[in-house]
Amino acid sequence: VLLRDRYRAVRARTVGLAKPLSPEDQLVQSMPDASPTKWHLAHTTWFFETFVLPPHAPDYRAYDARFAFLFNSYYEALGPRVARAERGLLSRPSLVDVHAYRAHVDEAMERWLADGETDEAAIGLCELGLHHEQQHQELILTDIKHALAANPLRPVYAEAPRAPGPGATTPPAFQTFDEGLAWIGHEGRGFAFDNEGPRHRSFLRAFAIADRPVTCGEYLAFMRDRGYERAELWLSDGWSECRREGWRAPLYWQSEGGGGGAGGDWSIFTLGGTRPVDEREALAHVSYYEADAFARWAGVRLPTEEEWEHAAARAPVEGHFAGETFPDLPLFHPGPAMPSLFGDVWQWTQSAYGAYPGYKAPAGAVGEYNGKFMSNQMVLRGGSCFTPEGHVRATYRNFFPPGARWQASGLRLARDA
Ligand SMILES: [Fe+2]
Repeated sequence: VLLRDRYRAVRARTVGLAKPLSPEDQLVQSMPDASPTKWHLAHTTWFFETFVLPPHAPDYRAYDARFAFLFNSYYEALGPRVARAERGLLSRPSLVDVHAYRAHVDEAMERWLADGETDEAAIGLCELGLHHEQQHQELILTDIKHALAANPLRPVYAEAPRAPGPGATTPPAFQTFDEGLAWIGHEGRGFAFDNEGPRHRSFLRAFAIADRPVTCGEYLAFMRDRGYERAELWLSDGWSECRREGWRAPLYWQSEGGGGGAGGDWSIFTLGGTRPVDEREALAHVSYYEADAFARWAGVRLPTEEEWEHAAARAPVEGHFAGETFPDLPLFHPGPAMPSLFGDVWQWTQSAYGAYPGYKAPAGAVGEYNGKFMSNQMVLRGGSCFTPEGHVRATYRNFFPPGARWQASGLRLARDA
């Protein structure tokens, strides 16, 4: 597919995701970690304006020079910016103005793309801009979910979540792998982020990994067994955060009867509305700490990212993403847990997010994209029901701080073999 066609498709999808939201919805920032929809719309545009257009469209005029301050996310090399926690204060520019900004940059991008650009570095930056925008498409959904859940009216983003089909009610099957050297990381053709390489060998002990993610029903058993009250199941940092935040269930779970984990009266807030917890569906919105405590309670452990990737290396990238491949599964919510490495929920691994051997961040401001975040975060694998279809691959490394719960983060069990 032509780069220009993909550019159009990705940019249009972002606008489409914001369509069900009012201008007021699109300004809300419910916590420092989550950004307003309007900010996402502008920031993804700023990325092309900043990294792709200047060297290649010399006659390009900025839509508004002040936007560089408003919509720079975290690039120190590009100067100061609006504090992350204050993005929700940007009632100006208006949403209409932000769409005009998008149109202005799209027009310049279209002119550049129509010239039949052949410079590989420029094409690479445009590709990066598209994959960057897809990452923000996922954030638009998870951030607005957090904002809507904070509204006492519990607004619905989109009606008619599709009816879920049959799901897992039996224990997962474990696939076993022999010990040995495994090739890890991306190499060769096709897009990958810098943090997915260099490809290198890693020694793996024999291990087994579950064929599907953990379900809500399995997690309810942990809750009923007082999992949130037993310090011996938790990492020290996790136990502190659990106490401090008063966790007693995954994010977005509410107990109507006040049963607090003993009963089965839990409901769950979704972008399609609030409904009873479905025990068969893949568990989402738990922190690394909860995932780790659950695995310890179950007598097993989380996989390392290398184990996960080795198991996924020959698997097709098929699963329940934000797309049309599984029209019977809920839109923007995990479906019944299926035997697949990919989709439904990102899976916490026990691997700290760090540099692969030989990794060097690219030169210049764009080198700040991934490399500077390699401390105090854990790696997640697999993609979720909020991830655009076609966005992830076996080598894809997502990362979040261990206490983060607002992404569709779940887990898959593993054990020594
Ligand atoms: Fe960004």
